[in-house]
Amino acid sequence: MDHLTEPKDRLLLGPGPSNVNARVINAMSMPIMGYLDPTFLKVMDELVAMLKVLFGTSNKFTLPLSGTGTSGMEAALVNILEPGDNVVVGVNGLFGQRIADIAERCGANVTTVSADWGHPLNLSDVEKAVKSTDKLALLAAVHVETSTGVIQPLKPLADIAHRQGALFLADCVTSLGGIEMKIDEWGVDICYSATQKCVGAPPGLSPITLSDKAVEKIKNRSTSIQSFYLDLLLLEKYWISDRTYHHTASMPIIYAVREALSMAIEEGMPNRVHRHQTNAEALKEGLKALGFEILAQDGYQAPPLTAPIIPDTVDEATIRKSLLSEYGIEIAGGFGPLAGKIWRIGLMGESSQETNVLTFLEALEELLAKTDHKFQVGSSITSAKQVFAKWDKLENLKTGFYNDGKIF
Ligand SMILES: Cc1ncc(COP(=O)(O)O)c(C=O)c1O
Repeated sequence: MDHLTEPKDRLLLGPGPSNVNARVINAMSMPIMGYLDPTFLKVMDELVAMLKVLFGTSNKFTLPLSGTGTSGMEAALVNILEPGDNVVVGVNGLFGQRIADIAERCGANVTTVSADWGHPLNLSDVEKAVKSTDKLALLAAVHVETSTGVIQPLKPLADIAHRQGALFLADCVTSLGGIEMKIDEWGVDICYSATQKCVGAPPGLSPITLSDKAVEKIKNRSTSIQSFYLDLLLLEKYWISDRTYHHTASMPIIYAVREALSMAIEEGMPNRVHRHQTNAEALKEGLKALGFEILAQDGYQAPPLTAPIIPDTVDEATIRKSLLSEYGIEIAGGFGPLAGKIWRIGLMGESSQETNVLTFLEALEELLAKTDHKFQVGSSITSAKQVFAKWDKLENLKTGFYNDGKIF
């Protein structure tokens, strides 16, 4: 075995994947079964029922795709869009850009509404673009831009799209499982995510949910869906209605995601959301005590991902690399216009723990102490602990409103 490189345990505090609980890892060793075995079909049903809870939806069309978050993005667009369809895409980071790129590959006429990276989309800009687009088919946006840590409220965008008779698509790759989702209440017609972030499982599935209106649009296509593997109507026949073979599902990842979802539901979504918020708040206060500002403005800071701006006195890449090589802690740098200017620190799913916040801040202080950057030793820990003391006393959230036993 010494010719193979052994993977190492890491504290995963980047933009995903995040750490995975041992219960979820163990679930992956359950028996491989036939993809139409009645017992395996029940496992699939349980997974879908729990996904609906996390999405906050009663959409009949809810299933996980075999693939990562990008497969959800691609599936949503290749199924909904036909060549010549008019689409407006909000772009304030890398993943909005990716949506626009895929929509163009589908032959759609794409109008982008941009905001500077680190800022939310401006609603009046979006409304203007939507109103001036004839026969708009789709408005698309990213809920949590993982390239910047900005959260975009979805309901106002859904309202804008619906006023023009268009569908609304939201990328919820970084929000599902960490932020309360109310897909039905907000009016999101197409929503996809991934399993390796706040859901707390390994990468490999992309949960997706569609409103009846979105399914109708697919059923009324005049052209066939270009992708077989991501044809949502065929996938629905395997996952939900007819139980006919489409492709061989990967049992271990399905077991893992079912276990992770079950842990989320046991915890209760209000508790889970509160945990993500508290830990993010403590991290932010700790970073601020060390002289870092947060890129996203107040009110638009996404708890799963915090992006501090790197002061001139800090060598971004050197500290980031030392965190990994000396402490086994992974965080990420910025993309595109933010390369070298920010870090992206994730506290998602299993990784969002009080101890992880303190471990990270301690390591950061130790590394900064060896540089010319001036700060008060211990100040980040004190600030983070103040948040924990205050936030833990917030109203008792211990009974999750999803823990009513009525899921199945
Ligand atoms: C907001 C967002 N959308 C889409 C993706 C793509 O997901 P994946 O890398 O799982 O394909 C990511 C990945 O980080 C993301 O953060």
